[in-house]
Amino acid sequence: MIFSKITGIGHYVPENVITNQYLETLMDTSDAWITERTGIKERRYFTYGKDTNASMAAEASKIAIERAGITPQDIDFIVYATITPDYYFPGPGFVMQRELGMQGIGVLDIRDQCSGFIYALSTADQFIKSGMYKNILVVGSEIQSTFLNTSNEGRGVAVIFGDGAGAVVLQATENAQHRILSTHLHADGTYAEELYVKDPGSSRSKRFYDDLVEDNKTGDVFMNGSAVFKHAIVRFPEVIREALDKNGLKPEDIDLLVPHQANLRISEYVRQQMKMPEEKVMNNIQKYGNTTGASIPIALCEAWESGRVKDGDLICLAAFGSGFTWGSALIRW
Ligand code: ACO
Repeated sequence: MIFSKITGIGHYVPENVITNQYLETLMDTSDAWITERTGIKERRYFTYGKDTNASMAAEASKIAIERAGITPQDIDFIVYATITPDYYFPGPGFVMQRELGMQGIGVLDIRDQCSGFIYALSTADQFIKSGMYKNILVVGSEIQSTFLNTSNEGRGVAVIFGDGAGAVVLQATENAQHRILSTHLHADGTYAEELYVKDPGSSRSKRFYDDLVEDNKTGDVFMNGSAVFKHAIVRFPEVIREALDKNGLKPEDIDLLVPHQANLRISEYVRQQMKMPEEKVMNNIQKYGNTTGASIPIALCEAWESGRVKDGDLICLAAFGSGFTWGSALIRW
């Protein structure tokens, strides 16, 4: 049997640190409000002229590829999760492919918001298990700061999000001891407009630029915060349990849970629901805010770099986000 295994991981965050105190100078907010509601103390914003969605992904990917002990030319497919492409189309996966000199291989763009990385990983896992590819680069990268409305009007959303990128190399293996055990994907489009950005969409009767003259807020992120919270705290534990049940495992078997870094209050609630000790849940939202499709590979990479992910550990990745989407992946490292 062929399985897939993460053999390399990397991340890149822009150098520009945006503290809560800095946001206080842009809008009517406070470090206390943001910390209490989200746990976030600072986040990173890209530097225009230096960072792009694709360039950040390329930096993260170079590290992941090197750690896997291969070269970009060994990669035979790219799966790239983002909701903030540099261009409306084509997606940044193509630009990153060019930057890394990997022209010719297939690139698949994934748009599943905060669950994007789990959807990307699951897709890559299926391609490897089917025997179609052997070395897949799986990326999550976001530049969200340009979407944020940092006036008072947008403060409920703007304080949460940040920029960054992460990547893993997934390789074929016959070793059943170290591999992705299973992945689980879900969505419920009933709630599509509870967390969304309308434009530049194709839902209008005419060119959206013409409409924007009258209605110029539709490029902003709309979020029904309480609806997101209520669904997230149900779906996270549910999809973690689904992965455990599928493999005949229990919450106490998990060595490290790496949740999508949505909001520290959500992660803490999930931890309590799963009756897990604090040291078994990875949180770095305090430093980076919510980086959507990039949050899981960034958090997993930092956990790995600090020695919290060891050979043989049971690692659980879980996400919930816009769509609504949710998913999990169980990995025997
Ligand atoms: N600073 C100060 N005050 C603010 C801010 C801000 N940044 N934003 C909103 N407020 C004000 C509101 O205007 C409101 O004022 P009012 O009482 O005078 O009307 C007050 O604070 C309370 O606002 P609420 O929206 O009720 O605040 P709540 O306590 O619900 O917290 C939050 C909002 C943090 C968004 C919460 O709903 C939440 O945690 N939701 C989950 C959503 C989430 O985490 N999304 C993450 C991204 S999605 C994902 O990754 C899955």
